[in-house]
Amino acid sequence: MTLTQDGPRSGAAGAPEKRGMNLTLRIWRQQGPTVKGKMVTYKVTDISPDMSFLEMLDVLNEQLILQGDDPVAFDHDCREGICGMCGVMINGMAHGPQQTTTCQLHMRSFKDGDTIDVEPWRASAFPVVKDLAVDRRAFDRIIQAGGYISVPTGTAPEAHATPVPKKDADNAFDAATCIGCGACVAACPNASSMLFTAAKVTHLGLLPQGQPERDDRVVNMVAQQDREGFGGCTNIGECSAACPKGISMETISRLNHDLLGALRAGARPKS
Ligand code: SF4
Ligand code: FES
Repeated sequence: MTLTQDGPRSGAAGAPEKRGMNLTLRIWRQQGPTVKGKMVTYKVTDISPDMSFLEMLDVLNEQLILQGDDPVAFDHDCREGICGMCGVMINGMAHGPQQTTTCQLHMRSFKDGDTIDVEPWRASAFPVVKDLAVDRRAFDRIIQAGGYISVPTGTAPEAHATPVPKKDADNAFDAATCIGCGACVAACPNASSMLFTAAKVTHLGLLPQGQPERDDRVVNMVAQQDREGFGGCTNIGECSAACPKGISMETISRLNHDLLGALRAGARPKS
């Protein structure tokens, strides 16, 4: 039912106007990392097109809790597209049919009567914790391997003491918008983490502050992503197409350029 100046608006025969969508959800349920999972079918009704996808899952979970069933586990935090915690495969697409995060995907992207498949990220380096929640600590370990700069302590330097060309500042900023969601890995047929690693290498490698560790950074981060079991990059481009922040394939070219230069200069990964 919707409200007008004259009060509630009704359908043709006086019945309340129906706005919400009725949907069939087929959701991956898996009790734990070592337990076999399966798709389970649920129905949700009267879903507002203005809800986010996660709010729609909240509705389902309230329904499950009221029935005494186990709610569906999924990751989320900010629900504003900035933390990178959310992320599921929706109808086989990382974060669903729009190039955005799952928390920013609205139900208006679907139609009344749709059947929607919801699965966790599928990559051996991102093992399932429960249902739709996966363990993405492999990304943290790639950052620990080199995604930092050494910061001298002492008085803060004058803000304009280190000039940065505008183009470099803009490109570094674009790369820094990577939120570590993992959609690039989930979308890649090789489950490669190259776009994520390249975003971090590019962000720091373009700035003066990132120069002291530049060679060690790239060799150690690439070695760590291999150790974690991510696949190799074959330049397919699904990663960039699925990335909610539009991180470009150019960052991968920069990483490869930095990697070759570092290896030629004698940099080798820590064992
Ligand atoms: S590169 Fe894009 S898709 Fe990959 S982790 Fe960063 S924001 Fe997510
Ligand atoms: S919940 Fe933070 S990006 Fe989606």
